[in-house]
Formats: sequence, structure tokens, C-alpha cells
Amino acid sequence: MILAIETSCDDSAAAVCTHSGQVLADVVASQHEQHAPYRGVVPEIASRQHLVQIVAVLQQALQQARLSPGNITHVAVTCAPGLIGSLLVGVQFAKGFAQARGVPLIGVHHIEGHIAASCTQRDYPQPPFIALIASGGHSALYACRAHGQFATLGCTRDDAAGEAFDKTAKMLGLTYPGGPIIDQYAAQGDPTQCEFPVAMRASATLDYSFSGLKTAIRIRIAQLKQQHGRIEGQLLYDLCAGVRQAIVQALLDKALLACKRTGMTALVLGGGVAANPLLRQQALLRGHKQGVAICLPAIKHCTDNAVMIAHAARLRLQAGYTSAFSVTAHATLPLSQADSLYRPL
Ligand code: KG4
Ligand code: ZN
Repeated sequence: MILAIETSCDDSAAAVCTHSGQVLADVVASQHEQHAPYRGVVPEIASRQHLVQIVAVLQQALQQARLSPGNITHVAVTCAPGLIGSLLVGVQFAKGFAQARGVPLIGVHHIEGHIAASCTQRDYPQPPFIALIASGGHSALYACRAHGQFATLGCTRDDAAGEAFDKTAKMLGLTYPGGPIIDQYAAQGDPTQCEFPVAMRASATLDYSFSGLKTAIRIRIAQLKQQHGRIEGQLLYDLCAGVRQAIVQALLDKALLACKRTGMTALVLGGGVAANPLLRQQALLRGHKQGVAICLPAIKHCTDNAVMIAHAARLRLQAGYTSAFSVTAHATLPLSQADSLYRPL
């Protein structure tokens, strides 16, 4: 019975999973209400809110799993990357629990968690495969050539894809997080009425860049406001559809280019933006055309959750690793250095 804790950003999450991957509890306490007035995550509020919520989240997870603390045999926790204050709350809480129960601790890399989110699905590929992780903090492509081995093929040079959604929402005075609300409006819009350049489309690099798009959106918003006064109704829907289209195309262009270049024929998606219906639909469509099998996590396991951390920990345990109790939190840690969190059993 693995208890997993995830507090890397603005969600306090706990899950319980068996060693074979059966999910017994999956609890996420979101902090969106606390951060919404600021239209973005305020790190100081996030860490303090984790402190408020973490015990209730654990209790709810144990209740859902119908277990007591004594049934837990391993504790997994996100150690990196993330907001340092938020990570420290989860890491210290997990250490305290594991120490008190006398069970091993597994410190998990958050991105490894996102990649493992769909690992119990039948369509999850065996390595080698490419992983596209698109979230509020990350937009990156990894090549997984063997279990637990990840090479970074490309990453964002500035903003992450989720950040592009969030910042667009902020410019339009919409709620945080921006992804779901922009998507909701985009579904009623026509992207051809408000086209944006697709970032780095012609470039040979596998890196992403969304800051140019952000500037283009800012200019377009100013123009539309000048012409129409307020951006609302169909105008707003078309703008959102154009933004969504440009982000989705940029993400998939590079992901499929990575498959082509490496000769890999499987692509795993993960991260909050992977919950986007257009990205999911386009990935399946374009993947099919290019002979690339697409693996999509369940929508609720795209955004931050603790089930994905339990799965990543299970895979590490199966490979013969746990972590030392001296394992600590890191605000940044490349996925290629995730090994530094683990030690052989
Ligand atoms: O993975 P996640 O929960 O947190 C990080 O690790 O960053 O991702 C959160 C991000 C936010 O930027 C949010 O706007 C975006 O995922 N997101 C979406 C959707 N749902 C969440 N973006 C586009 N479409 C969605 N449906
Ligand atoms: Zn995440």
C-alpha cells in the first residue's frame, strides 16, 4: 500500500495505490479559490494553504481507501521541481509519516509522475517512447529509451503552454486557471476568424517558445478593444479559438517531429494542458496519420494529482529503488537528474 503526497504547486493531493497499481484513494484539494483574485499562483499563499489542508487530505485518502495509517507500507512524495515552499510542506509531512510508521520513503520527480499518469492503461507503451509534458510550469519533450531513463529533447525557452493559456485569460480579465475557461469559449468560436502565428513552426529545433504568441495576443486584444470597445460574445469566442489552435499546433508539431527524428512510434501526453479536448483530438488524428500511437491520461490525471506520484514511485520500487531520508526538495531539477532522488534498495 503506497501513500503518495503531491504539493508541488497549488493542489494538495494524496492517493493510495496498491503495488500492482490499483488506485484505492485519489484526493485533490485545489487552491484555485485562494489564488483566483490574483489570476495566478501566489507561492506564499500556496505553501501556507498546503499546511492548512494537508492533514485533512491525508485523512480523506485513508478514509476513501478504508485503511488506517498502519496499513501503509511505503510513502511517496513529490520532491522536485516546483514551488519550494509548497514542496517543503509535502516532503516534510511525508518524512514525518514514514518515520513515525517505520516505512520507506520514495522521493519522486514531478515530471516523472506526469509521464507515469497513464501507466496502468492498456495503451501505455513500453519504451522507447516520446513524452510531451505540457502544464502550467513545463512544456517539454522527453525520449524514454528504457524504464526510468529520460533524455530531454526540447523544452520551452520562455513561457510554458499552460502559462500561455493562463496569461491570455489574465489579459482578458478571465478566471484562473486560464486553460479550462479559454477552452470553454474556444469551443464556441471559429479559429480562422482570429489566427495567430504558430510558434517556432519553421524552426528545426524541438524547443518551444510561447512568448511571441503572448505578445501577438496582447497586440490583438488592444486592437480589438480599440475597434469594439469590449471583447465579448463571438469576438471573445473566436479569439479564444485562435489562441487554443496556435498552442495546440505548436505542441503537436514539435512532438510529432520528435517522433519522426528519433524513429519512435509512441507518444505519451501528460500535464494539465493534456486535458484540453482539442489537443487530445488533434493528437489522435495527427498521430494516426503519422503512424504514431498516442497515449492520453484520464482527464483528471492530467492536472496535478497524487495518483501519478504513486505510479512513478511504484515503477521505481519495481526497479529496486527507494530514497534516503535525507532526500530534500528542489525548486528545479532536470528530469535527466531524477536518479539523484533515488538509491538502490
Ligand atoms: O499539470 P498542472 O496541474 O500543473 C503544473 O504542473 O503546472 O497544469 C496546470 C495548467 C494550467 O496552466 C492550466 O491552465 C492548464 O494546465 N489546463 C488546461 C486545461 N486544464 C488545465 N489548459 C488547456 N485546456 C484545459 N482543459
Ligand atoms: Zn504538474
